[in-house]
Amino acid sequence: MLSESSKAVVTATLPVVQEHGEQITGRFYRRMFAAHPELLDLFNRGNQATGAQQAALAGAVVAYAAHLTGEPGVPWGPILDRIAHKHASLGITATSYTIVGRHLMAAIGEVLGDAVTREVAAAWDEVYWLLACELIAREARLYTEAGLAEGGSVWRDWRVTGVTVEATDVVSLTLVPADGGPVPGFTPGQYVSVAVDLDGGLGQQIRQYSLSGRPGADHWRITVKRVRGEGGAPDGLVSTFLHERVAPGAVLRLSPPFGEVSAVTGDGPLVLVSAGIGLTPAMAALEHLAATAPQRPVVLAHADRDGAAHAHRDELSRLHARLPNLRLKLWYERAGADDRETPDAEVATGRIDPDLIPLSPDAHVHLCGPLPFMNQVRGGLLRRGVPVERIAYEVFGPGMLRGGV
Ligand SMILES: Cc1cc2nc3c(=O)[nH]c(=O)nc-3n(C[C@H](O)[C@H](O)[C@H](O)COP(=O)(O)OP(=O)(O)OC[C@H]3O[C@@H](n4cnc5c(N)ncnc54)[C@H](O)[C@@H]3O)c2cc1C
Ligand code: HEM
Repeated sequence: MLSESSKAVVTATLPVVQEHGEQITGRFYRRMFAAHPELLDLFNRGNQATGAQQAALAGAVVAYAAHLTGEPGVPWGPILDRIAHKHASLGITATSYTIVGRHLMAAIGEVLGDAVTREVAAAWDEVYWLLACELIAREARLYTEAGLAEGGSVWRDWRVTGVTVEATDVVSLTLVPADGGPVPGFTPGQYVSVAVDLDGGLGQQIRQYSLSGRPGADHWRITVKRVRGEGGAPDGLVSTFLHERVAPGAVLRLSPPFGEVSAVTGDGPLVLVSAGIGLTPAMAALEHLAATAPQRPVVLAHADRDGAAHAHRDELSRLHARLPNLRLKLWYERAGADDRETPDAEVATGRIDPDLIPLSPDAHVHLCGPLPFMNQVRGGLLRRGVPVERIAYEVFGPGMLRGGV
């Protein structure tokens, strides 16, 4: 709870902080990285360059302040869970909150100048620490659940045992613990962070990849789409590295599995909707169901550019044989003759049409794909009467679904 005096100050200054939110976080990152260059290895350079992370942090602090001043309508639980899982997958500790807090408060002062009286600074400091304490507590719980000792590292070496080409620009890596130890279980929908040391002294970069194989198997599998720069933008740092530099025998640093979004919620009908590389959590879900609940009614509605771009296409046919109640609906933007004859699937040409996704009234839905795709499908499903709490979604980047949680 925010103290009454701080509440009045935050309410009065919220509009100006909101207006300058991204300027504040932009300045915050510059200050923090100048004072702590070692933190550059923790943050995603692509997101820094495109501004996506600035928007996510600014958005979170401002929205939380609005919530503390009594603004209704933001369900904070899911947002805090998402941030805490992402932080835990990066091994963020309570001590770094002090560094972030110091530089964030200093950045607010620098951007807003004289408007930041001692009283205003104290009120925003209170907002920051209320939010920080919520996250620190959640992250501590996640570390304990993952069996990590307090202050221990999240990183463990994993050996690549296989590299499989799944589609144009998509490969799967299978991995086992380099120390020969046990392979932790996970819930379909969870991801791991992968840390790589880039060539040319560019330092470490970390990205998240959903586990795409069967939970309980003697290895993990991730499936990586190579990100090619468009319109003059550079190629993706980590996906390019994983495609070009990683062969069987290579060792990568991986976190334990984290992620709050399950792709197999409930035990009734399940609808998995994906586009492109967003298929990866659905693959883990289907592999899991084939092993544990093969009779469960499940629909996979998947959109892709064409059959050649569609990863795990043959595996879906094999899964179909093990899941008698699986219905496969595919939308290819450009379906060739071969694509239209995909075994066991109903194939349409063009973009996905949410009205044509088979639905039963009690279905749970899981979405994963680019944000515009998810916004469109989610809107369509809500219009068709699917209750909002039955639609889960995973975002392959910072931030939440617009108009969503
Ligand atoms: C929970 C979660 C699960 C995920 N699961 C998967 C998965 O299963 N499979 C998968 O393939 N991916 C997955 N991702 C995405 C993955 O984490 C990476 O984001 C993706 O591989 C791209 O990383 P990269 O390092 O190759 O690209 P980055 O280097 O991060 O670049 C990303 C984009 O930013 C652009 N960019 C970078 N720098 C600039 C600049 N200076 N100016 C303009 N544009 C720039 C690049 O052109 C590119 O389009 C997941 C993400 C999350 C959060
Ligand atoms: C109250 C304090 C904090 C808030 C509100 C906050 C908020 C956020 C948000 C909203 C995201 C994006 C989550 C997503 O949707 O994927 C994020 C990611 C991240 N945070 Fe925090 N954070 C805080 C503290 C910290 C601290 C102390 C550190 C460590 C120095 C940190 C490091 C990171 C990193 C490395 C990422 C991933 C960045 C990326 O991949 O681009 N954060 N944080």
